[in-house]
Amino acid sequence: MTAADWRGHPVRGTFVHAPEAGAIEVLDDAILLIGSDGGIEIVARAGETEHAALAARSDLIALAPDRIVIPGFVDLHVHAPQYPQLGAALDVPLEVWLGKYTFPLEASYADLDLARERYEVLVADLLANGTTTALYFATVHRAATEALAEICLRQGQRALVGKVVMDDPDACPDYYRDASAAEAVSETRAFIAHVRAMPGNDRVLPVITPRFIPSCTDEALAGLGQLAAECDCHVQTHCSESDWAHGYAIDRFGKTDTAALDGFGLLRRKTILAHSVFLTDADMATVKARGAGVAHCALSNMYFANAVFPLRRALERGLHVGLGTDISGGPGGSMLEACRATAQASRMLEDGVNPDLPAAERGVPHSRIDMLTAFHLATAGGGVALDLPVGLFRPGYQCDAVVIDPGVAQGTVRLFAAKATESLEKILYTASRPNLAAVYVSGAQVA
Ligand code: GUN
Ligand code: ZN
Repeated sequence: MTAADWRGHPVRGTFVHAPEAGAIEVLDDAILLIGSDGGIEIVARAGETEHAALAARSDLIALAPDRIVIPGFVDLHVHAPQYPQLGAALDVPLEVWLGKYTFPLEASYADLDLARERYEVLVADLLANGTTTALYFATVHRAATEALAEICLRQGQRALVGKVVMDDPDACPDYYRDASAAEAVSETRAFIAHVRAMPGNDRVLPVITPRFIPSCTDEALAGLGQLAAECDCHVQTHCSESDWAHGYAIDRFGKTDTAALDGFGLLRRKTILAHSVFLTDADMATVKARGAGVAHCALSNMYFANAVFPLRRALERGLHVGLGTDISGGPGGSMLEACRATAQASRMLEDGVNPDLPAAERGVPHSRIDMLTAFHLATAGGGVALDLPVGLFRPGYQCDAVVIDPGVAQGTVRLFAAKATESLEKILYTASRPNLAAVYVSGAQVA
């Protein structure tokens, strides 16, 4: 039985999570007691005294023995309004793509009915893909961004949502920008108040969202830095994404994106920096010192970043890192795809790509990341970066989960004689939507 509501019940099944990079923990035939608020109260392993007591309860929910349950995915970087553009418009570099395709698309979200219709589809699709937490960039429009927050809450997705700030008239088109720095900050302040006051809101958080340094004035960046300190909110922005974007901050400020953002008070414990491909050693030290996190968007980086993010180096330096799809810079909305791209891109970085070079000069040795590390980053790693209790099956964490059915005929996992619990890597590489039997946020079924 896969009951639609686990809240208040003991749930018996096989749970697999990744508390550390590169390793998984299998909780075979475990029982999780889910509280009425969707939090995990007890994790009882087979053979423990609590296990026998919970197993005897008449309200026990027992999952089919061939299912495995993994933590819901945390997508650390999604541009919600870009979903209609997924898989399209990938023929030009970032700085052209923004003006040619993306700003015109995002500007259309001034139409609130259009915004609502499209955001409903996006949130439902991401939940069906197993994304239980998403960190969203919306658009400059406050009303449509509030609608996105409301849709996430109604559909049950844990979400962090930001009204995009882009106020520099020299960089942003007249048809799509904040009227002034002061208005950008006051609209962000009003958005934060709205989200925090949404009735019944137990899962949607507001995010301070300067798009990136090239689209913002100094006044807006400084104002948002002050607001972040005042409201203790999450912050998100793009950082050193491509050669062009990385060079832009250096030309304007004589310092890197990271150093400039830090100077504006925007690098904080709950800041997420998308991409961050060109971080210097000093930048990594600053990100680590502030406790900020990186949203690694491996698929999108193949199109726009001009290079591969040195993920292994960042992990070895102790940075918080999670994964992002970067819809629509990356042409995929599934965190399974993000995990695959992460592992694959790291192999390209390690070996290098130019066959004209000798093997010894081609790549960056010791760069590879295995699939189980990618899975850790896509779940527990995202939770740590956001400072939220998600991504693990532990007491005190929220019960955000995906029930995997590896055997469903329409799916794409073929285990033959292998045991599912010993085949997580294979499942992560080959699963598709039919294999995701059910998705839960805070113990309630959402897909
Ligand atoms: N930099 C500024 N805006 C964007 C965006 O929408 N997508 C990506 N990938 N990079 C950006
Ligand atoms: Zn982005």
